[in-house]
Amino acid sequence: MSKKKNLRVLSGIQPSGSLHLGNYFCMMSRMIKYQEENDLFCFIANYHALTTTSEANKLSINTFNAVCDFLALGLDPEKSTFWVQSDVPEVTELTWLLSSQVNIGLMDRGTSYKDKINQGIKPNMGLYSYPILMAADILLYDTQIVPVGKDQKQHLEMTRDIANRFNNVFGDTFVIPKPDIEVNVQLIPGIDGKKMSKSYNNTIPIFDTEKNIRKKIMRIITDTSDIDEPKDKDTSLYQLYSLFLNSEEKILLSDRYNVGGLRYGDIKLEFFEKIMDYFQPFREKREQLVNNPKDVNDILQYGAKKAKLIANEVIDRVRTSCGIIIEL
Ligand code: TRP
Repeated sequence: MSKKKNLRVLSGIQPSGSLHLGNYFCMMSRMIKYQEENDLFCFIANYHALTTTSEANKLSINTFNAVCDFLALGLDPEKSTFWVQSDVPEVTELTWLLSSQVNIGLMDRGTSYKDKINQGIKPNMGLYSYPILMAADILLYDTQIVPVGKDQKQHLEMTRDIANRFNNVFGDTFVIPKPDIEVNVQLIPGIDGKKMSKSYNNTIPIFDTEKNIRKKIMRIITDTSDIDEPKDKDTSLYQLYSLFLNSEEKILLSDRYNVGGLRYGDIKLEFFEKIMDYFQPFREKREQLVNNPKDVNDILQYGAKKAKLIANEVIDRVRTSCGIIIEL
């Protein structure tokens, strides 16, 4: 096994519904790599989710499901530190301690807030302060590296700004985190050929019922070329199926596309079988977790305990820096 580097990598994920193939091949594979090679801290961001939902039941179910998804797909609570954000409530205290050092001007430049308002989400203080809570998430654990997609880049810049300002005002307190922007992200096409994304409603879910997964696969858009013609490989079905094939199988599939006689319906069925086989062990693991919520809870308490070891140390350092703790 590769030797772990001591870099602390932190990632937060909002619990927002079922994971799909795009999440699996982009986010999940990255997490597993960090877990093997670094000191991975990973949490389910339920406080953040509260900024855009008022359905209590839905939030708690989504949080539990997200936890089960991640554990089932290979996040290892021993190799990493995995918890639910609200199980370390010190993060909200840190949010407050940071808030007094954040200029309104910085917040007003936040594009994510404006985007959300433009989408029709009601403006509330939680949504407005979202970047400060995110900064607190990152700074509370002395994070060095934060893997970010394009949409979160500005939030990380704000975090660095806030941390630098605090350090300048109160003396060295925070580790300044760096973004890790993935440049070669694999583009996973959705069933309509656009990037697979929940917001395009073109996903293939991983943990849905067999029937629904099959339905999604059958809906993958294909062309209307004649059965005898060679088929185009620059298409969703071919690319998605290839993700699950070894090199020999890929050559075989490519050959079948090159000569005439291939029926897309057959390929879709094969692809469906392949996906179900591939995810079978993960589905079983997930079933087992869902049916044993007490075990899941134990895993989360264990994660929160590990997270608190460092959170307590950092929050004390911050309280001292800014004069919240009376030094006698
Ligand atoms: N804002 C992130 C997203 O929507 C989720 C998140 C919350 C996060 N806190 C974080 C990501 C800290 C990285 C680090 O994707």
